[in-house]
Amino acid sequence: MTDHTSPESNPVQTSQLRCIGCDAVCPKAEQTFRCAACGDLLEIVYPGWDTTRVDTAALRAVWRQRRTSGLPVDESGVWRFRELLPSFHDPQEVITLREGNTPLYEMPGCARIAGLQQLYAKHQGMNPTGSFKDTGMTMAASVARREGFRWVACASTGNTSASMAAYAARGGMRSLVLIPEGKVSWGKLSQALDYGAVTCQLKTDFDGCMRVLNEVVQRMPIYLLNSVNPYRLEGQKTAAIELMEAFDWEPPDHVIVPGGNLGNSSALGKAFLEMKRLGFISTLPKISIIQAAGANPLVRTMYENGGKTLIPVHAETAASAIRIGNPASWKKAVRVLQATGGAVEQVSEVEIALAKAEIGADGIGCEPASAVTLAGLKKLVKQGFVGPRETVVLILTGHLLKDPEFTLKFHRGDLFVGAESEKEAGILRPQQRAPIVLDADVDAVIQTLRKADDRLEM
Ligand code: F0G
Repeated sequence: MTDHTSPESNPVQTSQLRCIGCDAVCPKAEQTFRCAACGDLLEIVYPGWDTTRVDTAALRAVWRQRRTSGLPVDESGVWRFRELLPSFHDPQEVITLREGNTPLYEMPGCARIAGLQQLYAKHQGMNPTGSFKDTGMTMAASVARREGFRWVACASTGNTSASMAAYAARGGMRSLVLIPEGKVSWGKLSQALDYGAVTCQLKTDFDGCMRVLNEVVQRMPIYLLNSVNPYRLEGQKTAAIELMEAFDWEPPDHVIVPGGNLGNSSALGKAFLEMKRLGFISTLPKISIIQAAGANPLVRTMYENGGKTLIPVHAETAASAIRIGNPASWKKAVRVLQATGGAVEQVSEVEIALAKAEIGADGIGCEPASAVTLAGLKKLVKQGFVGPRETVVLILTGHLLKDPEFTLKFHRGDLFVGAESEKEAGILRPQQRAPIVLDADVDAVIQTLRKADDRLEM
């Protein structure tokens, strides 16, 4: 593949790795992606942006034009925006599954429920492996291969591992997955297996898997693909760029994101701040982060010490994707909250289940972790933080089919049996649609149909 037809409007930019704690520029990342001097996380910066004016109008035109190109890098909703990403001189080095270019949906039913005139959902679950992770993985897996790694690895609650395994397979690399035993949905686990990952179910939680992996990558020549790897976040930035393109570069008032390891909120925040700095947009949306009440380290950190020191928690939630008590990117997320004026909120298990069904009833659907966004939004509207006429975008992070067991249990009414919240879960009954077992009999089906819609004339 040669990139001879694709228009390039700006010279290829150079990027640097810089520590978010001590500002040290690191010529090469450590295996753990921590600063060698102070141990803090690294981020990617583009020194060229300080000295050269970026031609925003020309870039917008190029990005739009690439939608009509047949080149794999142009068909990707990540690499389409390559002028704002670390550069690859040879497009053949890029591993792409044509990620990104995800739909932005209007959510009329959910808007009514939340008390808003208009509500949108950017569905990152419509990526090749069914979650937002693909946008970051195309970038970081490509870097891994360029640096000559044969093996890549991650600890995961499921989606990162599915995505990493796919991109490793496409790129001819082997992958190692560490997941918490019994706490990853079947859909995600089966993806990792099918894409050929060496999958280890550790008898611990996500935070325990992360601790083990940090040691492994220091002893073995394996490239770490968790979101502490700053290249992941660069790829994930593109969801925000796509969103702005869809809104014709007029930012919404609010963007609402689920919070787990806090990489995605950090990436989206970085994108909006960079777009403002470069002149693509003139205002910032408030980026709010929602966590499950049982996995709420950021909420506690913001409420109890204003974001100064992380308060880790023992995490427990049925939204298994965000069952994380010690999030790596908490400092980056705090910076995003502070820079954009966003809020943090937590939601209960019943609130998550209800919101997921409401998103489903709009014909969209998502996995439980994504539904925290609508559940949190309802609270932010009640608090007056979000006004009824404001424009709001929910970031839906994972596909409905990632966790069918949760959905089936919900509809069968089994989700909260024996749980503390069993009584509260009574409010879910109107949303529940258990499958109906009938004899193979026409009358029985017609009777069921009539019962479901008493206005139906036959
Ligand atoms: N939503 C889904 C569906 C996720 O899979 C995750 C994280 C999040 C939200 C939270 O994003 O970590 O960037 O704050 N899943 C990771 C994984 C941890 O291993 O798949 P975050």
